[in-house]
Amino acid sequence: MRARARAGWRWRALTALLPVTTLVVTACATNTAQTTVEQGALPQDALSPVGRFAIQTDELWNLVLWVAIVIFVFVEALIVVAILRFRERPDDGDRLPKQIHGNPRLEAIWTVIPALILAGVAVPTVRVLFDLADEPEGNNVLSVDVIGHQWWWEYQYPQFEGLETANILHIPTDQTVVLKATSDDVIHSFWVPKLAGKQDTVPGRESLIKLYADEPGEYLGQCAEFCGLSHANMRLRVIAHEPADFQRWAQQQARSIRLDRLSGQAARGRDAFVEGACVGCHSIRGLEGASGTVGPDLTYFSDRGWFAGAIFENTDESLRDWLADPPKMKPMEPGDGRGMPDLNLSDQEIDALVAFLRELKTPDQ
Ligand code: CUA
Repeated sequence: MRARARAGWRWRALTALLPVTTLVVTACATNTAQTTVEQGALPQDALSPVGRFAIQTDELWNLVLWVAIVIFVFVEALIVVAILRFRERPDDGDRLPKQIHGNPRLEAIWTVIPALILAGVAVPTVRVLFDLADEPEGNNVLSVDVIGHQWWWEYQYPQFEGLETANILHIPTDQTVVLKATSDDVIHSFWVPKLAGKQDTVPGRESLIKLYADEPGEYLGQCAEFCGLSHANMRLRVIAHEPADFQRWAQQQARSIRLDRLSGQAARGRDAFVEGACVGCHSIRGLEGASGTVGPDLTYFSDRGWFAGAIFENTDESLRDWLADPPKMKPMEPGDGRGMPDLNLSDQEIDALVAFLRELKTPDQ
């Protein structure tokens, strides 16, 4: 009888743990929309910092973590000792433990010690906060304006006149990059875990984010503030180049594109782009009439490896699916002015547009 009751209890405990286990296991998935983990990498890789601003935050976190671990172990040990030593025993009968009220010395000690610990932790915390909030000046700082939109990221480079791009942020290595971030609609949060902490982007406000990449590479990011229907589909990538490569990239991308020599499909696509609804939302520097600002600037669209909030690889196939029905590919509310509408394009129009979009690239050198 006893044994069966115990078995029943065990099953109940296991069932209660199931949701917790599921949560823990799915937290490590690398194929979810919001992940910032590269395919094939370990989940914790997304959190190993690269560059000094991320490392600063990481070191502060580790310091506070160790202080917390020591306190946790100490307090838990005291609780366990108290439970074992002062538990009820069979010969206790109705006898109550000694009734006491207050102990000024103990209370003073357990107020002063935590206060001292908090004051101690505050010193490095405040230092890091001020360091990260300090806006660096000088020639060796790259400044980028970041604007969050439902549901994509816009980047403008004031030091390279005309340069504007979307979703994929290019930066140089070994240089402080200052992002001045804001939002066009609701609050988003710019988060590239390997390079910096999360920073809300708030309409009407400019927030500072500092990045510093030690090594060239690609770093994944994700909007980290719920911002509506496609919040999970608002990703980003940061590509860090060697300084000389970055300069070349930026100077090239700042130029207008030449599209007057197109022929065939691509020329038909260009005409469809200008005569259709596309130009109402998108700019192409170098194409007359294409100066919409609601959607991403598409000037060198085909140089970008990903599109639509950096969630789709920039292949002909996904581009075709996208043009056929954008809200089906990515939940959006075009009726409310959020995201790209289905333009009811015919297959021929889609083919022509894809051919045209493929011409939006750096010319072969
Ligand atoms: Cu933008 Cu979530």
